[in-house]
Amino acid sequence: MIESTSPGPWERIVEVSALPQSFDFVTARCSTGPVLVTRDAAGALHVLSNTCPHQRATVCRESSGRATRFECPNHYWLFAPDGRFLGSRLSLASGRCVADDPTKDLTRAEVTVTDGWVMARFS
Ligand code: FES
Repeated sequence: MIESTSPGPWERIVEVSALPQSFDFVTARCSTGPVLVTRDAAGALHVLSNTCPHQRATVCRESSGRATRFECPNHYWLFAPDGRFLGSRLSLASGRCVADDPTKDLTRAEVTVTDGWVMARFS
């Protein structure tokens, strides 16, 4: 039997004016849990689960700010503003090249902007 995952409902997350520039971020909550809303270097908006895929720690504990990457405080995994896993602090400091591994990325929601609000839904 094949299971289908239907997307959840669209949810209003934060006013888009809260993230005017690349690398701005805001943390918020939606029905699935804590989320991290970011703008990447190109200005694209992302709504990411703010729960680390490693051992479920909260990745970003600040309410808002600017960041070019996010570091989980438990074991120092690093994530790009689009949710990509970049490696651990230790592996990057030692110059090791980390292969892309989407299973370690922060979970991404589908995102749109409606009437000045960032809207998101997770599958
Ligand atoms: S829980 Fe985030 S790196 Fe381990």
